Amino acid sequence: MKRASIIILFLLGMIILLTLLYMNDKDSNPNNNMKNDSTAVEEHTSTEQSNYRGIHIVTDIHDEALYKLAIHYPEFDNTSLNEAIREYITVSKQQFLEEVELNKPFLKENIAELNLSFDIYPVINNIYSIVLSNNSYVSGANGSQSSKVLIVDVDEGRYISQLEIIKDTIENRATIYKILSKEFEQSEEYSIFFFQDYLKQWIDDNHPFSNLYLNNHSLVFKFDKYQVTAGAAGSPEISIPIDKVKTLFTDEWIEKLKINIDNMPEKPIVPSPTPSEGKEPATEVPSNKKRVALTFDDGPHPVNTVSILKLLEKYEAKATFFMLGNRVDFYPETAKKVADQGHEIGNHTWDHKDLTTLDHEEMIEEINRTITVIKQAIGQEPTAFRPPYGAMNDKVKAASTDLPIVLWSIDTLDWKSHDPEAVLKIVKSNVKDGSIILMHDIHKTTVEAVALVLKYLQDEGYEFVTVSDLKSS
Ligand code: NI
Repeated sequence: MKRASIIILFLLGMIILLTLLYMNDKDSNPNNNMKNDSTAVEEHTSTEQSNYRGIHIVTDIHDEALYKLAIHYPEFDNTSLNEAIREYITVSKQQFLEEVELNKPFLKENIAELNLSFDIYPVINNIYSIVLSNNSYVSGANGSQSSKVLIVDVDEGRYISQLEIIKDTIENRATIYKILSKEFEQSEEYSIFFFQDYLKQWIDDNHPFSNLYLNNHSLVFKFDKYQVTAGAAGSPEISIPIDKVKTLFTDEWIEKLKINIDNMPEKPIVPSPTPSEGKEPATEVPSNKKRVALTFDDGPHPVNTVSILKLLEKYEAKATFFMLGNRVDFYPETAKKVADQGHEIGNHTWDHKDLTTLDHEEMIEEINRTITVIKQAIGQEPTAFRPPYGAMNDKVKAASTDLPIVLWSIDTLDWKSHDPEAVLKIVKSNVKDGSIILMHDIHKTTVEAVALVLKYLQDEGYEFVTVSDLKSS
């Protein structure tokens, strides 16, 4: 009897193992290319390290003839939470593409752009505020800007309504009006654009305070462009320390936040920069070998970047990774791994906006925020800069003075074809000594492409170096 059940268990085990192996094999079949790139969804397993437990970031970047788009959104391990976000993304994208269609004749000169992005703020425990923002430009003087706030309890697998957090009473509305009026009037940034009567109207309107969110120390009011200010103010945000507005909260949240007011988690400790390990200015003997610089944009990705690192190690290749700040924020450990293996880290901005459409402050913010998060992750600042879409003008050049701007000489179009053989073909017919090759480490098909490209170029006698090494000799 006992023996029989052991045999049955053994057989069951074998069946499960074989099924897993089969599925895995299907996954890695290079002929299974995802052709439909616009619906490509990143694959995640819960074992991957994200800075935000139970949440990953998905990035989708396209550069078409009439428009370019960069979409970033959170994806939850608890799949029931994903629908609300996907809906928002789908609708925003549809609206944008419809406008592109309508304005087709005018888009030749200034192509349209959609940037869907988000900010994430830990509140307490596993509760986060997520501010989704939509920035788009379609053939008009002014771009449009809007945002949507979601507060999510990851452990309970549900969204929290703002009315669970603050009590919607006449007194509270009066308090909020008083506080916000004062904040707007005293704000250097917004005071000249502020319309008091618009705020009054907003206070009186029947709404569930859906623009309000929490971070771990403040209550924040997020307004859309034109809602209570002139357009030049953009989408204003007024942030008020929690202990200054305690009376607004429901009993449940007074309870929840009190714990944290006395014992507020500080910002994550920034690792002190490790002295760069003997990174002396390259005094290497210049070799006669042909050299290429492989560059990977838009990552890091907790699975695909790591797979690429393994391949690079196998070929003793060094490469450069132009990372997005918002992805480093999610995957600092992956970024650290890249740096620890001696690859160069470059700045590719926070969320891949076309910098030429931004004003100076916004541009600086995109660049500096990314420098900060990279420094936190790897203990060192990035050493090169690549503007999204390669879009540049004198203002962009001026904003990035400290970092060398590095574009590319071979565009593999890996994000578009998702076809490793097609990537190899482009490399084969264009590569020469000194080439800088552009790929994207967020795609699974690019991992396969990298394997082919490394093999081919090594056989052709190429050495793989970082962009800075390539430029320095
Ligand atoms: Ni990019």
